[in-house]
Amino acid sequence: MSQNLGVPDFNSKLADQTVLLIGGTGGVGIAVAHALIQAGARVFLTSSRQQKLDSVLKLLKDQYPASRDKIDGYVCDLGEEDIEQNIINLFKQTGRPDHIIYLAGDRLPTMPISDFTPEAFAKQSQVRAIGPLLVAKHGVALLEHSPNSSITITSGSIAEKPIAGGWSLLAFIGAGLTGLTRQLAFDLAPIRVNCVAPGVVETDMWDGMGDGKEDFFKGVRAANCLGRVGTFEDVAEAYLYLLKDKHATGTVVHSSGGVFLK
Ligand SMILES: NC(=O)c1ccc[n+]([C@@H]2O[C@H](COP(=O)([O-])OP(=O)(O)OC[C@H]3O[C@@H](n4cnc5c(N)ncnc54)[C@H](OP(=O)(O)O)[C@@H]3O)[C@@H](O)[C@H]2O)c1
Repeated sequence: MSQNLGVPDFNSKLADQTVLLIGGTGGVGIAVAHALIQAGARVFLTSSRQQKLDSVLKLLKDQYPASRDKIDGYVCDLGEEDIEQNIINLFKQTGRPDHIIYLAGDRLPTMPISDFTPEAFAKQSQVRAIGPLLVAKHGVALLEHSPNSSITITSGSIAEKPIAGGWSLLAFIGAGLTGLTRQLAFDLAPIRVNCVAPGVVETDMWDGMGDGKEDFFKGVRAANCLGRVGTFEDVAEAYLYLLKDKHATGTVVHSSGGVFLK
């Protein structure tokens, strides 16, 4: 066996890579941005709101003054009717990223099936489902056609593990996103396409639950093997792995405390 393997450099795999984080201003997106900046990457974050974008960019630039010129962003509202044009306009601002990570998600579309309407589906699937399709459609022209490039989509454990409380629509969208990941990985190769499926992670996304949030989290702790709710630092690792492993494509990485085992 050859002993001349050299010393692999694991620490600089993301140095000077450019990563576009669509919906990068939420809890998970900011954690991924921290990890990327610490790894020497350039980050380009999007939000639907200028004020939110400005505050997150300021926070990151203040925390990493030596990397200020590697931190940028742009407003792109994916909930508007002209979503496709907004994405085209976004890509005119981003240059040519090495990786695109799709994290955008608006208000949680929980509803009992008795309230379901076709209009509700159209409205509530736009940011989480139509957005990734359009990002793949237009993003592919930006990326180098090689395994160095990747698109990472975000689904969730709800795609495979039902829970009580009106989650049909989100389960449907989430399962669609994991299927989409596999098909795009096949169609867009050698660009890599992968998916992260978080379990419940403590971020602002759950604030809309108000007083019900603590009870919901209690149920989450009881339902998984680790007896805890995930953190954004935990799940950020899944995104980093998928950017760095140039042989990973069509893969769904779970970070959900063993919720499927119970
Ligand atoms: N947290 C969890 O437990 C969990 C579990 C499973 C899956 N996920 C998924 O993981 C992703 C990130 O989660 P998170 O907890 O970080 O969520 P979050 O804190 O709510 O952040 C969501 C991101 O989406 C952006 N966004 C919302 N509406 C948008 C719109 N109309 N156009 C463009 N961007 C929009 C938000 O920015 P603005 O509001 O500033 O526009 C923010 O950057 C989401 O897709 C979520 O569904 C999360």
